[in-house]
Amino acid sequence: MKSKLLVDTKRAAELKLNSNEYASHDLTRNQTHDLELLIAGAYKPLTGYLNESDHVSVVNSIHLTDGTLWAKPLSLEVEEKLFRCLNEGDRLALRDQEGVLLAILLIEDLFNFKGTNYLGGPIEGIEMPMHYDHKELRLYQKEVNPKEDTVLTCTNLLHKVEMEALKDHIKVHKTKLSIQLFSDDPIESHSRLRCIKAALSELSNDQYTLSILPGHAPVNAEEWLQYAILLKGYGCSSLISDGDMSLVKEHSVINVFTLPKGSSEETFDTVLEEINSINPPPKQKGMTIFFTGLSGSGKSTIAKILQIKMLELTKKCITLLDGDVVRKNLCSELGFSKDHRLINLQRIGFVANEISKNGGIAICAPIAPYDSIRKEIRQSIEPNAGFILIHVATPLDICEARDRKGLYAKARSGEIKHFTGISDPYEEPTDAELIVQTTNQTAEESCELILNYLKGLGYLELA
Ligand code: ADX
Repeated sequence: MKSKLLVDTKRAAELKLNSNEYASHDLTRNQTHDLELLIAGAYKPLTGYLNESDHVSVVNSIHLTDGTLWAKPLSLEVEEKLFRCLNEGDRLALRDQEGVLLAILLIEDLFNFKGTNYLGGPIEGIEMPMHYDHKELRLYQKEVNPKEDTVLTCTNLLHKVEMEALKDHIKVHKTKLSIQLFSDDPIESHSRLRCIKAALSELSNDQYTLSILPGHAPVNAEEWLQYAILLKGYGCSSLISDGDMSLVKEHSVINVFTLPKGSSEETFDTVLEEINSINPPPKQKGMTIFFTGLSGSGKSTIAKILQIKMLELTKKCITLLDGDVVRKNLCSELGFSKDHRLINLQRIGFVANEISKNGGIAICAPIAPYDSIRKEIRQSIEPNAGFILIHVATPLDICEARDRKGLYAKARSGEIKHFTGISDPYEEPTDAELIVQTTNQTAEESCELILNYLKGLGYLELA
């Protein structure tokens, strides 16, 4: 099946050539998913983005102005700067995040709704976004999808209870199932797919087809309604799901069935194996040990000793990202303004995340004076690895009295500006897992404390 919105090769070549003269918009990831579904015809009867009257009508009354039931106000959101340069009748090149030209929008309408700038108008599809994952399951790119009358939309994993209920459903309704998953992020969806495939091995191959759609799964009643409209458009009559179906039922779009909800306590060994490989126990997991404290508080010394001692206790690779060392290498162009410190810490957080999500240990030892960025780094790392914040709480007067680098004296004389603790703030953490200080504790003793803590969490068991 070829989508009506994908132009032929001659027109595509023509549009590509002319596109250099058009303004260009880099689509966000969500916008790319929407455009892909639009081009694939999944949002039929739409042939482009909604203009203002349809957009407002959908938001206010869940219908297009012609009376069609519709829940998604699918207009193209753009930034103010671009919005101001555009006029009705202009063409806009729509590109993915790498700059590949996917479609051309003929702007019919430019409008602001509740503070956001939108464009509406028909599109001409040039090519589908490229995916390297699950190509064989992206049925929407090539044929009518879903194929079967009944669709099971997997937003959760499938365990014993769900599989029993599914087997009953297939028997009672004498039906074959289309099982659909949403794929927003290739890495996350890969793991989920493996778990679901493991459970589906309970069914025979002729009882179901498996496919994926781009984007995130519906999260509220309006999104489920739009998804049900999409399924109905493909000729499906039943949806099995545990999402919020209130609007789907209210508008009688499609029959709705729910599945009883099992748990990983009562699942198949094969599923459990997959779950464990996605979320391994601490001894197999990476982590970030993030020190924070004033200059001269002893962070670097403790971090160095910790790295050496940990080498004896784990086979995991350990990377030390010391504040001064990072600043000589990764961040050599940065100074000490708030903006530059934030960039410095974002980079440290990024590297630490890459290391720890791939099973290594990152020991970071910057001053990291701001609570917000420490929290941001924690949030980015915690979903995939351990994160332990350690406050080296040596008081300012002691750090200054030590003044090993002579920087405090320079800060006091005004030779160095924005010096943390003297002329720049240090926000003490309130969420540190551990607080150590070097006034009545040696660096070795602080390390012992940290090592015992890590052992208690299971991170240092030899896997
Ligand atoms: S952070 O604030 O961005 O986290 P970072 O740990 O990278 O700081 O760098 C701190 C180190 O840079 C200090 O240990 C000190 O040697 C040096 N330094 C030079 N100027 C300053 C300054 N204005 N404030 C703090 N540290 C400084």
